[in-house]
Amino acid sequence: MSQRGGISKPILPGQTVGIYGGGQLGRMLAQVARRTGYRVHVFTPEDDSPAGHFANQVFVAPDTDEEAFRRFANSIDVLTFEFENVSAASLEWVPERVPIRPGPQVFWTAQDRGREKAFLQKYGLPLPKFATVDSLADLERAAQVVGLPAVLKTSAGGYDGKGQAVIRDSSELANAWQAVQERPSTLEAFVDLACEVSVIVARDVWGACGVYGPIENHHTNHILDLSVCPARVEAGVAHRACELARKVADHFELVGLICIEFFVTAEGEVLVNEIAPRPHNSGHLTIEGFAVSQFEQQLRCVCGLPLGSTVQRTPVAMANLLGDLWFPHEPNWRALLASPETYLHLYDKNSPRPGRKMGHVTVCATDVERAALTAVNARDSLGLPWE
Ligand SMILES: Nc1ncnc2c1ncn2[C@@H]1O[C@H](COP(=O)(O)OP(=O)(O)O)[C@@H](O)[C@H]1O
Ligand SMILES: [Mg+2]
Repeated sequence: MSQRGGISKPILPGQTVGIYGGGQLGRMLAQVARRTGYRVHVFTPEDDSPAGHFANQVFVAPDTDEEAFRRFANSIDVLTFEFENVSAASLEWVPERVPIRPGPQVFWTAQDRGREKAFLQKYGLPLPKFATVDSLADLERAAQVVGLPAVLKTSAGGYDGKGQAVIRDSSELANAWQAVQERPSTLEAFVDLACEVSVIVARDVWGACGVYGPIENHHTNHILDLSVCPARVEAGVAHRACELARKVADHFELVGLICIEFFVTAEGEVLVNEIAPRPHNSGHLTIEGFAVSQFEQQLRCVCGLPLGSTVQRTPVAMANLLGDLWFPHEPNWRALLASPETYLHLYDKNSPRPGRKMGHVTVCATDVERAALTAVNARDSLGLPWE
C-alpha cells in the first residue's frame, strides 16, 4: 500500500500539521494541535484568518497559486482540511511523502451534490427522491419524477441554504432555475421533517470508528442555530442514524472526520441529507460535552494515531452566535457568562455581519432541555444593556 493511502509512521508532536483553510473549524483544530505540541501551518486566501492566529506559519494565497501552495505542502508532514471545496489540482502539488487525510476522492465526491447522492445511492443509503438538472427542460422533467413541493439546490458551492430555491408548484420552476443562476443543480423532494440530526464519525488509519451523536439540529434561515446532544429521538432512529453514518465513513475508507446530516421524517424514516468530510458546526458541543472533541479526533486520525474516547460526559447544547448579535450594541458578554455552565467561543473575526458565524456558546447541564434553555437564554442575554 502506498504511504499516502495506507498506514505510515505516526505523525507526532513536534511535526507539522497542514490545515487547508483558515476558518473557525481550522482554528479549533489548530488550538488542539498546538496544545498537544504539534506545529501548525495554515493555507488560506485570508490575510487575517481565525485559524491563522493559532498557526506557527500562515501561507496567504489563493489555492490557484502553485508556487505558494507547493511551499506550504513542502513544509508540512500531513495535510488535512477544514472545508470541502478544495481544488483537486492543488492536491496534485502535494509531495508523495505527505499523507492527504481524508483523501482527494472524498472531496471530489462531497463537492458536488449530484456526485454525492450517486455515491450514497450506489451503497444503498436512504435518500430523499432526487434528480440532477442541467437545464430548464431538465427541471421540468425532474419535477415530474421527484414531485412537488421540492427544493432545487446548486450542485456545487452551496452552504447555509445559499444556492437553494423551494418550488411549491410548476408555476415556480422558471423562477427557481433563475434563482440558482441556471447552474447544474439537484432537485430534491421536500421532506416533511420531524427533526434534523447529524452524526460525526472519526475513522482512524486502521478503520476503527468513533461515533458522536446523533446530535439534534435546529436551523433558522437555513443556518444552524442550536444543537443538542443526545438528540431527542427514539432509540431506533438514533441507532439507525449512527449505523448509516458509520457505513458512509467505511465506504469512503475515510481517514479523518466526516459529518452526516440526516432528515428524520414524520414516519421515523432516516434519510441522508448531505455529508461534510471535516469537522462540523453541530460537533462544536463535543469540546465540552465529550471526553475527546471532534477536533482532537481529527488530529489523532490524520496523524495516524488511535482514536480517543467518544464517551459523552454530560448532556450539552450549543447555540451559534451570528453577527446580528453585534447590533445595535456590543453584546453583553458579562450577562452571557453569568451562568457558570456556559462556555464562550469567539472566532476572532474582525467584522461582524448579519448571518456571519462569529462564535458559539456551549452549555453543559443535567439534561438536554435545561442545556438548550440555558444556551438560548444566555444568547438572548447578549442583547441586555451594559450597566
Ligand atoms: N429536501 C428538503 N426538505 C426539507 N427541508 C430541507 C430540504 N433540503 C434542505 N432543507 C432545509 O434547509 C437546510 C439547509 O439545506 P442543506 O441541503 O443542508 O444545505 P446547506 O449546504 O446549505 O447546509 C436543511 O438543514 C433543512 O433545514
Ligand atoms: Mg446542511
